[in-house]
Amino acid sequence: MFDGDPGIDDALAILTLLREPVDVVAMSAVVGNVPVETGFRNLRDLAALAGREDIPVFRGAERPLVRDYVFDPTVHGVDGLGGAQIAESRAPMQREHAAVAIARVLAAAADPVTWIATGPLTNVALALDLDPSLARKVRRLVVMGGSTLRGNVTPAAEFNVYVDAEAWRAVLGSGIRPIMVGLNVTHMVGMGDEDFAEAEAIHTTVGRATRVMLDYYRRVYEEGEWGEPKLHDVVAVLGAISPELLETRAALVDVETGSQLTYGMTVVDDHAPAERCNCDVAVDVDAAAVRRRMLQALRSY
Ligand code: RIB
Ligand code: CA
Repeated sequence: MFDGDPGIDDALAILTLLREPVDVVAMSAVVGNVPVETGFRNLRDLAALAGREDIPVFRGAERPLVRDYVFDPTVHGVDGLGGAQIAESRAPMQREHAAVAIARVLAAAADPVTWIATGPLTNVALALDLDPSLARKVRRLVVMGGSTLRGNVTPAAEFNVYVDAEAWRAVLGSGIRPIMVGLNVTHMVGMGDEDFAEAEAIHTTVGRATRVMLDYYRRVYEEGEWGEPKLHDVVAVLGAISPELLETRAALVDVETGSQLTYGMTVVDDHAPAERCNCDVAVDVDAAAVRRRMLQALRSY
């Protein structure tokens, strides 16, 4: 299962995921990079672009569990995809709330499910709150978010956690031991000129759409002087499918929810005794392999 807030790097992650040899049983949109209605539309249209209108797509939380949501279109654009024009999906519109759908899918699953979250964890927390026993039906939960170093929204907080730190705390206390793919590793995976050249050489409908997204994303990074555009969510998706791409360390992770100054900070104690650890934190990644697998997927459409 996939939950995200497309978003340009989410879109690249989704287009990569849908060419990997895995069975994607459901996808859901959560408030984050864009309002949930926009993310829901983007997720549906990306599934259609990938030729996967068979995968049910659900609309999730409009706002975080506690705090207010403030939409900032700077990084991904007002439409969330940097202006890329994608044909509208003709798939039936799913009316079930994502949290309800996720709980239903988990309850019905014959075997535990791998779950990937590339946006705020609001839908994940809501689904687990509907039936906490469903934690036993989650084989692996891989989340893009947090950081063992500094944040990107504030010096303390990474965006996905900053939007809904309470959701992160709920998931960390759910009994699921997530794999945390934080900025400390996703910042190792940027797109260089060679990668852009390879992406620009893909003359297909998918190639043309990703080129618009990547051009927008590169301009934003150049204007922000943030270095190479980072493939945050692609790292989480491929790390979930191929765990060997990540090096992880067991840790006790908690999230700041009370301080105005450090709200959303992930506090990672990798010196905690084993029995107290609640998370496996990625500390290294095979960046070249992630870039190669993403470009390979984009070329394969
Ligand atoms: O901080 C990076 C994360 O926030 C990525 O998931 C990006 O898509 C945004 O949601
Ligand atoms: Ca995202």
